Amino acid sequence: MEIVDLTTEHADDIVTWRYPEPYGCYDLTGMEPQHFTDLTNGFFALVDSERLIGYRCYGAEGQVPGFAYDDRALDIGGGLRPELTGQGLGHEAISTALDFARARFAPSQFRVTVAEFNVRALKVVDALGFSAVDKFESPANERPYVVLTRTA
Ligand SMILES: CC(C)(COP(=O)(O)OP(=O)(O)OC[C@H]1O[C@@H](n2cnc3c(N)ncnc32)[C@H](O)[C@@H]1OP(=O)(O)O)[C@@H](O)C(=O)NCCC(=O)NCCS
Repeated sequence: MEIVDLTTEHADDIVTWRYPEPYGCYDLTGMEPQHFTDLTNGFFALVDSERLIGYRCYGAEGQVPGFAYDDRALDIGGGLRPELTGQGLGHEAISTALDFARARFAPSQFRVTVAEFNVRALKVVDALGFSAVDKFESPANERPYVVLTRTA
């Protein structure tokens, strides 16, 4: 797996992604492809030798509205292609994203924000050394979210 620049073909693919419940809140259908190719939004593609397997975002797009984020950590978000979830690929996907971020952005800390119901995602980031530092409720969907950090 590697992180590469996100092309218009990648973006056209990503905006069709729909996740099986209870992960439908991560669907990207309805979003403009240009949102993903606009370099200021910090999106990158996660690929293997054959295809697009996910995307990652670095910076404000990795945050969830409703929390008072400080600038001491680099926020990282993203997702795997829906049909590739639940197969144990998340650990390598996020680990690859962290390696890329370390080289590209040299932050002192990484931060992720995960919906509390999403035990699958929480298990992956826990195994990668992230620890919960705060919790809040999103005003958009009234769901609790956990904020986790780790040293970069
Ligand atoms: C979050 C994500 C990276 C996780 O990667 P993944 O490859 O799908 O996760 P895995 O299959 O490795 O599962 C991780 C762990 O959760 C467990 N798990 C899976 N579904 C679970 C559930 N419903 N309840 C509890 N545990 C669950 C797995 O058994 C595994 O446990 P283990 O580490 O003890 O073996 C990936 O699913 C993804 O990108 N999803 C997109 C939508 C999303 O959830 N985004 C989150 C943004 S923060």
